[in-house]
Amino acid sequence: MDLVTALARARSPEEPGPDTPAGPPVRRWPDPPRPVPPARPGELDLDRLLRLSLTAGDGAGRLRPAASAGALHPVDAGLVVGTGCPLPPGRYGYDPLRHRVHHLGPAPAGTPPGVSAELSVTPRRTISHYGHRAWPLLLLDTGHTAGALWLAARALGATPALHLDGRTPSAGDPEPIGHGAHRPAADPVATGADAEPLATVHVPPPRHTAGPHDVPARRSAPTPLHGTPPPEDLHALLTTVAEAGAGELAWCAAVGGPRPGLVEAAPDGTLRRIASGDARPTLAVWAARQAWIARAGAVLLGHGCPMDAGAARIRRVHLRAGHAVQLAHVTAARRKLAARPVGSWQRADLGAALGGPPGRDLVVHALALGTAHPEERTS
Ligand SMILES: Cc1cc2nc3c(=O)[nH]c(=O)nc-3n(C[C@H](O)[C@H](O)[C@H](O)COP(=O)(O)O)c2cc1C
Repeated sequence: MDLVTALARARSPEEPGPDTPAGPPVRRWPDPPRPVPPARPGELDLDRLLRLSLTAGDGAGRLRPAASAGALHPVDAGLVVGTGCPLPPGRYGYDPLRHRVHHLGPAPAGTPPGVSAELSVTPRRTISHYGHRAWPLLLLDTGHTAGALWLAARALGATPALHLDGRTPSAGDPEPIGHGAHRPAADPVATGADAEPLATVHVPPPRHTAGPHDVPARRSAPTPLHGTPPPEDLHALLTTVAEAGAGELAWCAAVGGPRPGLVEAAPDGTLRRIASGDARPTLAVWAARQAWIARAGAVLLGHGCPMDAGAARIRRVHLRAGHAVQLAHVTAARRKLAARPVGSWQRADLGAALGGPPGRDLVVHALALGTAHPEERTS
C-alpha cells in the first residue's frame, strides 16, 4: 500500500479495529548507554537541547515536549554529532526515557559542526491504537517533534535548519514510497533502521550565549475547552501557523460565540470573516466524532492537501502541519490559552462544505483552543 492509498483510507469512515500491542516505547539502540556530558564554553548545550525537545517528563514516556497522537510517541531520534558538541563526533541513537545516547558509528564525512537530529518513526506504536488511521498521524507527530527541536534550538540562541520534505524519492519510484527491499510493503512512510529520515533538524553551535530565553511548558489541555480567545490571540496564532507551515496549507479558525463563523488573519492585524455559521459541530463529526470539539472556544484549522496529492506532497504537507501546530501550541501556552491538537480527520472536506469543488481542500490538522484551563475557571 502506498501513502496515497493509506491517506485515502485514513480519511474514510472505516473504523479502526481493537487495540494491538504497541511494543517498546524506545527503539533498541546498541549498548552501552552513555550520559550526555555538560557543554564546555563555546559548545552546543546538547543536554539542554535534548531536555527541551525530546526528553520524557514521566517514567512511562507519555509526557514529552512535543505533543503526540494518543501519547504514543512513535518518533525516534538519531543524532549525527559534529564538532562543537560535548560528545565526540559520531552517529548516536537517543533514548528519551533515560536521557542517554548510544553510539552507533562514525559521523559521515562532511558532517557540519553541531548536531543533526534525524527523525524516523516506529509505526507500530501509533498503529496499536489508530490502526489504518495511523499513517497521517505518524507524519504529523514527526512534524511536532521537529517543531519542539526548532523551538529548543532557538531557546539556546542557535539558528536551526529544518528539512521537512520527507524521504527523497529514488529513481524509478518518483511518487509512492516503495523504495528499498528492507521496508515491508505495508509501510507507506519511510521507516526502519536504514531508511532515510522523514525529517532532519540541524542545530549549529550558537554564535553567542543565549539570554534567559526558554520554551514555555506545553501540555494538551484536558477537554472540554471553552471560551473564544480574543481576536489578537487568534491573529497571532494564525500568523504563527502560516509562517511555520511555509505555504503548504491554508489556515483559518472556526469560532463560536455570538457571531460564529470561520475567520482568517488579515494583513492589517485584524480577523477577516470568510464564512458565517457554526462550523464546530461539523468539525466534531469529521474528527472521529469527538463531541467536545462542537463546544471548543475556537478551532484553528490547517487545510489543503487535495485527494489527488502525490506521496511527496502528502509527506511535506503533514510534516509542515505538525511543525506549525507544535509552534502554535507553544504560542498558545505563552498567551495563557488552553489548547489541544486534533489530528484525525475523516471526510473533512472543508472546501466542498463551503461550496467549492469536492476533494480539493481537506482538513489536515487542527488546534482546538479555549480561554482557560478548567482548574483556572473553577478557582
Ligand atoms: C498529531 C496529533 C493528533 C492529535 N489528535 C488528538 C485528537 O484528535 N483528540 C485529542 O483529544 N487529542 C489529540 N492530540 C493530543 C494528544 O492526545 C496529546 O498530545 C497527548 O495525550 C500527550 O499529551 P500532551 O500533549 O499534554 O503532551 C493529538 C496530538 C497530536 C500530536
